[in-house]
Amino acid sequence: MAGKFQGKVAIITGSSRGIGKAIAIELAKNGASIVLNGRNEQRLQETEQIIRSIHPHVVSICCDVSDIKASEALIETAIQQFGRLDILVNNVGVSMRGTVAELNPDVFKKVFESNVYGSVNPTIPAIPYLRKTKGSIVFISSLAGIRGLPGLSAYCSSKMALRAIAESIRLEEKSNGVHVGLIQVGITEIEHNKETIAADGSMKTLKSRDKSNVQTTEQVAIATVKNIRSRKFITTLTGIGKVNKFMQARFPMLVERIILKNLHKFEEKSE
Ligand SMILES: NC(=O)c1ccc[n+]([C@@H]2O[C@H](COP(=O)([O-])OP(=O)(O)OC[C@H]3O[C@@H](n4cnc5c(N)ncnc54)[C@H](OP(=O)(O)O)[C@@H]3O)[C@@H](O)[C@H]2O)c1
Repeated sequence: MAGKFQGKVAIITGSSRGIGKAIAIELAKNGASIVLNGRNEQRLQETEQIIRSIHPHVVSICCDVSDIKASEALIETAIQQFGRLDILVNNVGVSMRGTVAELNPDVFKKVFESNVYGSVNPTIPAIPYLRKTKGSIVFISSLAGIRGLPGLSAYCSSKMALRAIAESIRLEEKSNGVHVGLIQVGITEIEHNKETIAADGSMKTLKSRDKSNVQTTEQVAIATVKNIRSRKFITTLTGIGKVNKFMQARFPMLVERIILKNLHKFEEKSE
């Protein structure tokens, strides 16, 4: 198996479907040995078969990364299997819907457990191994991490937290040669049965999205692999994402006025 990441080992959290699965496929195509992760054993096994047809070195570790001990075991099992770690992609994340006034406070807890603790828990035990290989930690963030958006307070703030964590690790690990990347992903195609957290705290299945208006998971995966290869910090995806970032940095009050005029566009229907 030839490729830029030949001989390297990558863990991708939440890789049994969606964006994480696409990143695992792209890294495998580039020669990396793959550690898949997710909570559903059957979905993991199906994805493992796909990866195995690209690269023979793949294992699945079924665990919940919002659990500290399970995340430590994830890293240690990967090391036992492959002897090294070069890339950790913190992809696990869940979205939510609802204004702050109507939210069950448990929504914030669930979103932060998944998106923030679910990224920090695997990162801490991975750092000693990534120092040895001068490897990469990548956080999968969102355009929703650029500014607070209506109906998405917990999601936006969790993704903003990832940016601060990424900035801290970059400074702390610079002298150890560890690369830290952050991918600000725009609206992307979703796999059947993707769930979001409703205002009352229950899980709701999202309606499928019109594919002509969204990025493919493969586009996100290619950009993520490019970020790792070039050891870049922030990769912002989609034209609208780049415009958003520019406008928010320079004209935040104008952005607020534009959003207020388009509030209806921030509602996403569940089934
Ligand atoms: N899709 C978009 O439009 C979009 C846009 C911007 C950013 N993003 C970000 O991209 C990332 C992936 O999104 P996606 O749309 O691909 O999500 P998805 O289709 O819901 O897939 C999430 C993956 O993570 C696993 N997972 C969820 N919680 C987990 C946990 N606590 N521990 C271990 N595995 C867990 C899921 O498998 P199990 O359920 O079996 O555990 C699944 O493999 C997220 O961070 C999201 O915020 C997505």
